[in-house]
Amino acid sequence: MSAAQGKGNGSVAVRTAELCRHFRMGESLIPAVDRVSLEIRSAEFVALLGASGSGKSTLLNLIAGLDRPTSGSVVVQGKDLARLDREELAKYRLRTVGMVFQSFQLIPSMTLVENVELPLRFAEVDRARRRHLCQTALERVHLGARSNHRPSELSGGEQQRAALARALINQPQLLLADEPTGNLDSQTGAEIMNLLLECNQSLGMTVIMVTHERSLAERYTERLMVLSDGRLVDDVTVASSTRSSAPGGTP
Ligand SMILES: Nc1ncnc2c1ncn2[C@@H]1O[C@H](COP(=O)(O)OP(=O)(O)OP(=O)(O)O)[C@@H](O)[C@H]1O
Ligand SMILES: [Mg+2]
Repeated sequence: MSAAQGKGNGSVAVRTAELCRHFRMGESLIPAVDRVSLEIRSAEFVALLGASGSGKSTLLNLIAGLDRPTSGSVVVQGKDLARLDREELAKYRLRTVGMVFQSFQLIPSMTLVENVELPLRFAEVDRARRRHLCQTALERVHLGARSNHRPSELSGGEQQRAALARALINQPQLLLADEPTGNLDSQTGAEIMNLLLECNQSLGMTVIMVTHERSLAERYTERLMVLSDGRLVDDVTVASSTRSSAPGGTP
């Protein structure tokens, strides 16, 4: 099976065409993302690899609708992000995309449940339903008993699990993770990877994960895309025999 065929129900989740994001720094122009054309199918689990500065975060941010291309296009589930107005783009970020970062980005003054429910408040979900959904999400990441703790009272792995619960709370179809295990030891990182795998295999989410660790990507994801100086230089399928399956999930 070629990477382009992928798996899933056959529909295209993300398509970029000649995507560029160039930053001007004084006299010089930095081609952070340079003519990237790719296609990711629904329910694929893709790793984005590349050296520091190769454009991984910039590409992820363009797909997340957090940044606008210099040229080229990003189409997610048939929607060309450039054609969305401010309100539609905000809705896209709130409902279609879930994001997890290396540095967790939880709000320190809020408890876990308050952090996790934030996207639901923006989505104007009523309080009782918010609390119910938050509790379910925290239980999914095995933090049900810690919902009234603040982030500083938790370990790094627990904070990242809470950040994942927040990313999942609106049931996004697309989960974007920028080095989600970068600040964690290998065992705690494996817990996060297993949760991402569960999101992909049990919930059918399309997952795009940035990582520096090729071995981690080969163990958990099914496709490796490699960036170098903003260009997509490699796109390979990982043999299924070398991959993990979600604990308790259906492979
Ligand atoms: N806002 C910005 N202004 C100017 N240059 C930027 C900006 N954001 C990114 N860059 C540059 O674009 C290039 C790609 O950056 P990016 O953050 O996407 O790399 P990365 O692959 O995520 O790196 P890392 O692995 O270190 O996180 C780098 O040269 C970076 O300095
Ligand atoms: Mg980065």
